[in-house]
Amino acid sequence: MVISVKTDKSDILALLRSSEDYVSGQQLCKQFGVSRTAVWKAINQLKEDGYEIEAVSHRGYRLLESPDVLSQSEVLSRLTTKWAGRTLHYLEETGSTNIDAKRCAEEGEPHGTTVIAEKQVAGRGRRGRNWESPAGSAIYMTIMLKPDFVPDKASMLTLVMALSVADAIAEKTNLPAGIKWPNDVVVHGKKVCGILTEMNVESDYIQYVVIGVGINVNNAAPEEFPEEIRDKATSLKIESGMTISRAELLERVLVHFEKNYDTFVRTLDLSLLMEAYEARLLNLGREVEVLDPRGAYTGVARGINGTGELLVETENGEMIEVYAGEVSVRGIYGYV
Ligand code: BTN
Repeated sequence: MVISVKTDKSDILALLRSSEDYVSGQQLCKQFGVSRTAVWKAINQLKEDGYEIEAVSHRGYRLLESPDVLSQSEVLSRLTTKWAGRTLHYLEETGSTNIDAKRCAEEGEPHGTTVIAEKQVAGRGRRGRNWESPAGSAIYMTIMLKPDFVPDKASMLTLVMALSVADAIAEKTNLPAGIKWPNDVVVHGKKVCGILTEMNVESDYIQYVVIGVGINVNNAAPEEFPEEIRDKATSLKIESGMTISRAELLERVLVHFEKNYDTFVRTLDLSLLMEAYEARLLNLGREVEVLDPRGAYTGVARGINGTGELLVETENGEMIEVYAGEVSVRGIYGYV
């Protein structure tokens, strides 16, 4: 089931979260124009959802602890963006949030609509791969955009999202979040986030773009990942030793994405974001193998150009602009 209106629950939660002291029932009624019974019901619902709320007579309510959930009220109660995630759908289980977000676009939902799931049963990765998506520790989200630019600009959005996720991770965890071109977010040499961008184009006009993001957040041990990716996947918890609030991190991803996207549309290229992207680009100055279907070659990654292509300097000094759609790039001595 899809819920999309801002609920009283999230408003109450936001107010409780923002006040250090008790908030009286009367204050809550007045602020939201609802009855005492409605407040009481919302508080009880929050408790059922796992929130620890202390109720003291003559003083009111105080939020002691929030569960690590990605529910609509949890995320909305934290959201500080203008348009990213302002229409929000939370699903306990779904096939793929990318498919859900496409449906939202077809049904006329606005730019920035975001779908979050606790679990995906048909999570999709790049190059037709699956994205294992069990419940409990990861973020699976897709933001849908209705941009007003030509389709060949859209591939850059993946890089904009990679930068935003890396910024959010660095801000929340202090981990050195890097990017393996074009869009894997990597910590200590292992992948913590994958991004899948898909778009619908009709007569040279973008109907919509969906950017799906999967982040390994609180997976406790490498054994939680499928065997075939165990040596190159990790989670933020494994790398930092801390449990991270998924809702807080997701909110930060939306904030950074909104800011970076708004910067991107000013020039419709990466000129204003290049410096920030290259500061996180792990391939920079390293030898890479470019798996071009016309023939693989090696070279040293020198950065990106304004449209997000990787600049690879070959042995004979030639600078090749590598377009992400055609090839994959891997490190000579490992994953990056
Ligand atoms: C990759 O292969 O690196 C990209 C993985 C993208 C996974 C995310 S999870 C949320 C969204 N829904 C999907 O089905 N895939 C993306």
